[in-house]
Amino acid sequence: MFRKALIAANWKMFKTPVEAKAFVEVFLPLVAGHERDEIAIFPSPVLLPELVKATQGSRIAVGAQNIHFAEEGAFTGETSVLQVKDVGGSHTLVGHSERRQYFGETDEIVNKKLHTALRHGIVPVVCVGEMLAEREAGRTADVLKRQIAGAFAGITPEEAGTIVIAYEPVWAIGTGKTATPEIAVEAHKIVRAEVAKLLGAEIAANMRILYGGSVKQDNCTSLIQQEEIDGALVGGASLKPESFATIVKY
Ligand code: PGA
Repeated sequence: MFRKALIAANWKMFKTPVEAKAFVEVFLPLVAGHERDEIAIFPSPVLLPELVKATQGSRIAVGAQNIHFAEEGAFTGETSVLQVKDVGGSHTLVGHSERRQYFGETDEIVNKKLHTALRHGIVPVVCVGEMLAEREAGRTADVLKRQIAGAFAGITPEEAGTIVIAYEPVWAIGTGKTATPEIAVEAHKIVRAEVAKLLGAEIAANMRILYGGSVKQDNCTSLIQQEEIDGALVGGASLKPESFATIVKY
């Protein structure tokens, strides 16, 4: 089985349209001809049109950091999957830990959003991961299983083919503390086994599981080269074209 790695940039609430364009101008030449991995960038919704335009003709996919589960409606401040699709977005993050922590996203909401993304042919990157207290209490496996089972409720093997998972231990996000390759691999195995239980061994074997949490130029290779780790979701180190390009080429 071969899983093409996906290296994804989560820009969070950083950059203006002008800065996004400037990033792409420097980044594209740095990754020209790099076909080994897929590359995706997840900017704020307001940057999507500019980024889609700037990356046109390249192999870089552009996606949203969040969608609402409804196609449209009276949901002030939200972005719909149809809007993302219409401006050329092809991917979306679902259930990032910052959404769960600060915006009250539950497993049930994550599940609804996953269904919505799949219904519209948007590639979902479903984020899971334990908090520090949960790890210290020996509850990591339980948390991951609960998050996966919750996210995947009602998803059939037929529609699951495009789903990507990102394992992001919350204690490693933006903290400079990275999971060791051993810790990450152990968690990825738990996640893959849970997917196998829910959707079958074949879907699980083909599903890409990315690692996220303080991925940097100096630790990306040892992580992504693990057979269990199928790419990375990169926050801080994706904001500079040079460091993100180095990670893409791990
Ligand atoms: P970080 O963020 O690389 O800055 O830790 C990762 C993420 O939140 O996806």
